[in-house]
Amino acid sequence: MNSSQKKQLFDEAANILQVNDRGGYTIPTQGLYPFQWNWDSCLTAIGQAHISEARAWQEIDTLFAHQWEDGMVPHIIFHELDDGYFPGPDVWNTKQATPTSGITQPAVAGFAIKRLYDRSKDKALAKRHASELLEKIDRWHQWFYASRDPANTGLVALIHPWEAGRDNSIDWDDAFERVPTEGVTPYTRRDTQHADPSHRPTKAQYDRYLWLVEHFRSLDWNNSVLHNESPFQLVDPGFNAILIRSCADLAKLAEKLNAPDIAVRNTQLAARGLAALESLWSDKLGQYVCFDRAEGHAVESASIGGILPIFAAIPAQRATDLVARLNQLSGHARYLVPSHDPSDSRFDAKRYWRGPVWLIVNYMITDGLRNAGHNEAAQKIESACLELIETGGFAEYYDPITGEACGGESFTWTAAMVLEFLERV
Ligand code: DGY
Repeated sequence: MNSSQKKQLFDEAANILQVNDRGGYTIPTQGLYPFQWNWDSCLTAIGQAHISEARAWQEIDTLFAHQWEDGMVPHIIFHELDDGYFPGPDVWNTKQATPTSGITQPAVAGFAIKRLYDRSKDKALAKRHASELLEKIDRWHQWFYASRDPANTGLVALIHPWEAGRDNSIDWDDAFERVPTEGVTPYTRRDTQHADPSHRPTKAQYDRYLWLVEHFRSLDWNNSVLHNESPFQLVDPGFNAILIRSCADLAKLAEKLNAPDIAVRNTQLAARGLAALESLWSDKLGQYVCFDRAEGHAVESASIGGILPIFAAIPAQRATDLVARLNQLSGHARYLVPSHDPSDSRFDAKRYWRGPVWLIVNYMITDGLRNAGHNEAAQKIESACLELIETGGFAEYYDPITGEACGGESFTWTAAMVLEFLERV
């Protein structure tokens, strides 16, 4: 890619960030997602820093201004009412000053603020924001292990698929079947009015998403009981790897910023998580797999959740194994990394997390590959990402076989990741 092509992509990406900026926070895309989403914002901030460091810090500050009393950082902040989205604040009814959802999302904030800090040109500004965020993110990490790992195994469980961000992953098809659908208040979906319904989760899945929301609401969103009261408890290796990486990064940043207690605690959490992650390795699939905690067994499902652990400091041999796995996948998909193995009959090239490629996941995977010294493998994925943008625009996700753009358009975190990838190619 020559420098004028790069400049054009940079400008297009920057324009999307600006169009979706609501002043203090950025919506993922107009129509489909009109509020602030947790991990979207943290990853978006990394892109924003290429344009304005102050605006990048503000994105994460705004998110953490809505941290719950118990330490949880909710997955959606409903800053302004918009009935184009379902389920809205009335369904969640979490009774927060600014309405929020009642569940969380992948803990990418620790990673994000370390990246912002390390890259910052304005170190005084960075130090001010990072020092305040350190304590809040540390509380969130402690909340994770206390509330989502009550038996102290070293691995946290999702209690709702929306917590993973990989809403309709094949990984939890069986576990999700056990969630009832009876008694859910009748509702009208809004997502299918903004995006092609064949790219979105099914009605049966939405019934279960809603059943869980209503169940947790009936328990007053009390995080000391939700995990054990949930029929859905899924240990996702990718979700854990993000948390482990964030603990490790927060610890390193805390050392620099002279916060030794936070550094020690998060170093220990990361080490314990890494050791426990090994129990999710599958020799058969050559990657990590989920564990169905409610039923007590591993889930032999070859999704991207089992490749994402490269983002954490896994053993060198595991990193090499995952590179072999990526090579296998490249025999089935033109664009890496598909969110599910195309050779599985349940793979669905255009349906959300059942096949499509997502740039944010590719960003975390390539970051991990580079940290583990697998630069060539990373480079291959990064170039494929920019090819997808050039042919399909800044979509929410892409068909890994044809490259077709899917889901929402003018997507914020896709644009943010492009700003990052442009630096690498
Ligand atoms: C949605 O509404 O599709 C989201 O993934 C929930 O966070």
